[in-house]
Amino acid sequence: MIPVSQAPIYIREILKTVFAYSTNYSTESRDFQDQISNYLGCRHINLTSSGFSGLYSILRSSDLKKGDEVIVPAYTCEDVPRLVIEMGYKVKFVDIEPCTCNMDPIDLHDKISKDTKVVIAAHMFGYPCSIVDITETSHDYGAIVVEDSCQSMGAEYNGKKVGTFGDVGLFSLNMGKPISTIHGGIICTNNKDFSEKISAIIATFNDCSIMQQMNTFAHLIGYSFCNNRNFYSLIYKLIGEKHPNSYFEIQDLMYKFTEFQSILGIQQLSKLDTFNNIRIKNANYLMDNLKPYGLFFPKISKQTKPIFLRLPIYFENVNRANRNKIITMFKHSGIEITPYLLRESLPFLFAEGSTDYPRADRMTSNTLTIPTHPGLTNDNLDQIIDLLNNRVDI
Ligand SMILES: Cc1ncc(COP(=O)(O)O)c(C=O)c1O
Repeated sequence: MIPVSQAPIYIREILKTVFAYSTNYSTESRDFQDQISNYLGCRHINLTSSGFSGLYSILRSSDLKKGDEVIVPAYTCEDVPRLVIEMGYKVKFVDIEPCTCNMDPIDLHDKISKDTKVVIAAHMFGYPCSIVDITETSHDYGAIVVEDSCQSMGAEYNGKKVGTFGDVGLFSLNMGKPISTIHGGIICTNNKDFSEKISAIIATFNDCSIMQQMNTFAHLIGYSFCNNRNFYSLIYKLIGEKHPNSYFEIQDLMYKFTEFQSILGIQQLSKLDTFNNIRIKNANYLMDNLKPYGLFFPKISKQTKPIFLRLPIYFENVNRANRNKIITMFKHSGIEITPYLLRESLPFLFAEGSTDYPRADRMTSNTLTIPTHPGLTNDNLDQIIDLLNNRVDI
């Protein structure tokens, strides 16, 4: 099985990391922060255990009161609205614009009010959202803009890296992200006071326990074996199809980033542009060769440079009922493709039959995401094209 998204890590890199860690491990986090700061062009960097704990630290540093309103796109990672609610704030959804799969600045303009304290704008699948308009509208209302760039490290808008337009940017180093340290999150901001507040929150998190470090190391070894599609098939069979209820105690997920992960992060960061260039090349090859009938890709405007973490394909004639047939057909051919199911994951947030977010709703029911990652061979890409052009009835 080929995973839908991946940043390859090889055994030789793990060995190099282990060697570097055992010989010198005092300033690696500082070096990693400096290199991220240079890469993004953003002054202050904080590291934490995940994108999730990064968002938690940002919201805790934003002077919110219980019940304050936080705007979130109606098509995003389910963890985002879930965390906002768990922290006692109110979620308000804004619909998406189909051309970017991201927050619609016009709908934001209609929904935002003086009660809105934070706007979390995501750049999904490596596609920049209309961040300039979103930031302008949010600031007109005095709201803080959090740029959720968890899926988009390296993507650009007007030649500038996403994550650096709003008041604060967030990146994930989890598995399946543009680069990975197995778990991890990056927070960037040019606001020194904001950064210091975030650092103070992260300083209260526990150090990663020995058990957690061993767990991360075991995941790292397993993840590196997932470069082999047979091994990933085994993992997928064992755990991939189970959907454990991912409810959690928030505090259990807050811990510090480790020096070991920083060494791995430095190696991964040096490969980010190479990985992204391959993703872009693969996505362009797929888009050039897929028959257009019934299939739509997000439009790429002149201002944006997406990194195509995955290729989201909108299937005109697919719906919730028959999309599983396509997923199963791909699975039998050894390729993982996935839908993105915010509404199904958090049904209590959406009124039954509500049509308040029609575009997000159609995106959820009609879109599947296809792999573009550096682990794909030309044969894999041709196989995807053959399946979609000749075997799927769309
Ligand atoms: C858009 C988005 N935001 C936030 C997160 C949370 O990041 P993490 O998995 O590192 O907690 C994710 C993770 O998938 C994501 O895709």
